[in-house]
Amino acid sequence: MSGSRSDAFVFFGATGDLAYKMIFPALQALIQAGELDMPIIGVAYGQFTLEQLRERARKSLTEHGLFDAKAFERLAAQLQYIDGDYHDPSTYTRLKQALGEARSPIHYMAIPPTMFDTVVQGLASSGCADNARIVIEKPFGRDLASAKRLNKTLHEAFPESNIFRIDHYLGKEAVQNLLYFRFANTFLEPVWNRTYVENVQITMAESFGVQGRGSFYDEAGALRDVVQNHLLQVTALLAMEAPMGHEAASMRSEKQRLFQAMRPLEPGQVVRGQFRGYRDEKGVAPDSQVETYAALRLHIDTWRWSGVPFYIRTGKCLPVTSCEVMVTLKQPPLAVFDTAPRQDSNYFRFRLSPEVVISTGARVKQVGEQMRGEPVELVARHHPVHEQLAYERLLGDAMRGDASQFTSDACVEAAWAVVDPVLDNAEPVHEYAPGSWGPAAAKALTADDGGWHDPKVE
Ligand code: BG6
Repeated sequence: MSGSRSDAFVFFGATGDLAYKMIFPALQALIQAGELDMPIIGVAYGQFTLEQLRERARKSLTEHGLFDAKAFERLAAQLQYIDGDYHDPSTYTRLKQALGEARSPIHYMAIPPTMFDTVVQGLASSGCADNARIVIEKPFGRDLASAKRLNKTLHEAFPESNIFRIDHYLGKEAVQNLLYFRFANTFLEPVWNRTYVENVQITMAESFGVQGRGSFYDEAGALRDVVQNHLLQVTALLAMEAPMGHEAASMRSEKQRLFQAMRPLEPGQVVRGQFRGYRDEKGVAPDSQVETYAALRLHIDTWRWSGVPFYIRTGKCLPVTSCEVMVTLKQPPLAVFDTAPRQDSNYFRFRLSPEVVISTGARVKQVGEQMRGEPVELVARHHPVHEQLAYERLLGDAMRGDASQFTSDACVEAAWAVVDPVLDNAEPVHEYAPGSWGPAAAKALTADDGGWHDPKVE
């Protein structure tokens, strides 16, 4: 049934945080776009009533400054609610009844990963999985072995073509532009390789901590929370070959080849950190060794990228909130003017958040008698980010059966295989001061390449 439209939208975890922050805004936007003319069924175990769920949806939209009375009226009218324990078969029987005439529902799992198995089995044994699609949130498993098990469970109830492993980074405008910009501009291709690129850096910095998600975060840590998914996906888009044609399958197979060419990490290539005060957060173990910061050096064994280091870094409680990619080109071979080795030019910069920026760093001569220059940035794109768009776009794609921006079974396993050897690393984490750029130990990783590029507030 790939290609046909889903005809009912079911979301598990309807009273949860993710639904509040992302799903209600996305649902209203889809209604505004005329793409959600179908039953919307929330499922949760929260002792809620339908009226309370509607109120929660209203509050979410108002808080995000998105409330649209006309669209909300339709959302409220289409919304149904099933309150039930995910372990109880009657929850799924009631869901089946609520689906009524719908023949191709889509089930969205906005629930903790530990519940995925139970809900998938409940959907399968009640017939709710028949001819249905399923959208699964990250993290998909907690290591390679559990991801394989989860794939197996899913495949027992759904064909791979109906499974949509969501990574909201792939719905971001700026992330989609990485791929577009690379393959739409002829000038880029000749330099986009080991001959011209010195190194690639990706920094995802957040100036806040775990924001009340301590118990979730202490089970995950930065490697599982954002490196295995968001940041390796960004790396794949920067490094993959051009897909052949427009089919989702070709995009997925090129990505898969790239993920499989990433060399599994070794402990010496990773520095883990923990911000001071993390262990005092609610839900965090007092002796937690979980990392809130990770920096690593990755190698991609392809003809194009052999020998080019990809440096990836992320952390909570860093000085700014920004995600930025810096592709540094090799320096001119000789210093003719004042162009001795320097880092202020010869690069491509992709800022993914909080603004979208695509720019390239160059040097031009200053006006005057001397052959002295100054750095300039040639800016191709600069605009603010609209975060809600990512979920609207991805859920819309999933309902149409378009899997190109979703992760396949093989890709998710290949990405786990990269980080698997350094998960639960026995080495203690390095403490760092909140508001700093992380532990000093991370400096050594990029020492031979001019150090880390720290994104600035723009
Ligand atoms: C989520 C992580 O997937 O991505 C969070 O669980 C992180 O820890 C978030 O803060 C960042 O996404 P965005 O879109 O807000 O930059």
